[in-house]
Amino acid sequence: MLGFVNVRRPLAGRVALVTGAGGGIGRAIAEELSAAGAVVAVVARSQARAGATVNAVRTAGGRAAPFSADLHDLGSVPCLIHGIERELGEVDILVNNTATVMPLGPVTGVQPAAVLRALTLNVGSVITLAGAVIPGMSRRGWGRITNISGIPGNRASTPGGNVYAACVAALESHTLNLAAELAGSGVTANAFRTQRIYTSLRAWLETIDRDHIEDPLIRRFVTSQIDVDVIDSTGPARNLLTHVLGTESGHIWDLVRNRPLRRKTPDASGDELDTSATSRPDSGRPG
Ligand SMILES: NC(=O)c1ccc[n+]([C@@H]2O[C@H](COP(=O)([O-])OP(=O)(O)OC[C@H]3O[C@@H](n4cnc5c(N)ncnc54)[C@H](OP(=O)(O)O)[C@@H]3O)[C@@H](O)[C@H]2O)c1
Repeated sequence: MLGFVNVRRPLAGRVALVTGAGGGIGRAIAEELSAAGAVVAVVARSQARAGATVNAVRTAGGRAAPFSADLHDLGSVPCLIHGIERELGEVDILVNNTATVMPLGPVTGVQPAAVLRALTLNVGSVITLAGAVIPGMSRRGWGRITNISGIPGNRASTPGGNVYAACVAALESHTLNLAAELAGSGVTANAFRTQRIYTSLRAWLETIDRDHIEDPLIRRFVTSQIDVDVIDSTGPARNLLTHVLGTESGHIWDLVRNRPLRRKTPDASGDELDTSATSRPDSGRPG
């Protein structure tokens, strides 16, 4: 355990692992943790994208290393953790940020293999990574596990994204249960709900010609993600850092927005999406 806290770099001496850090929110979180003094293990599927985040961290004066892993393969986790420990040291902070929103569409059409892939990445990798780093955190009496989540309260807010909605519910349930399991150990577990952040997937969604999407549920889902105001990743990453520095456990944090969202926007079905509050039901798109 560290003997003192460096006020300007409160995470100095800590090792952070961020999944899905090759871009989007994950990259912003990696940069923020580094600015607070942590050494960051940047995990993405693509070595090039992980490397780009590492370059950004290093340019800003921080220390980071890239690690490529496909977290659809839970068997890759021990090797990943071993590599990080060898190069950077044992993990003190775990941010599970990787997720997929696929498969989309009505449940009558989804392929079993696609359901299993989503559950494996969005939930299985989160639990497996936690299981791999908790022994060391518990031994040192300090650890922070944060799981990035997506859908605020209303579980019926993501028609057409049913598998993703199920994954988010499982993720949050796991997080709260894990916090109870870790009570008194010095290791915290929390979830952080983000929404409406401009990342590569949202940019991709904007390129789709909605009028040519045949399935009405997919069209509704895509439209609900495009017709809302968005923010960049910096604010959410800062917001997350303040939580990581604290000692709360067993919480589901909502993203605090620094500027108001756009007024109400009708979605494809003619319903109104209330975009005026920070933690109201969202369309649930994670990207
Ligand atoms: N953006 C939003 O508005 C929003 C809303 C709600 C929730 N969220 C949540 O925020 C988190 C990040 O979303 P984002 O929008 O920043 O995503 P993103 O821009 O699409 O980034 C996804 C990251 O995950 C990595 N990744 C994808 N599949 C992987 C796999 N099988 N194994 C390892 N890494 C993999 C990607 O790495 P490669 O590029 O190398 O594949 C990339 O670094 C997710 O948990 C999402 O549910 C976002």
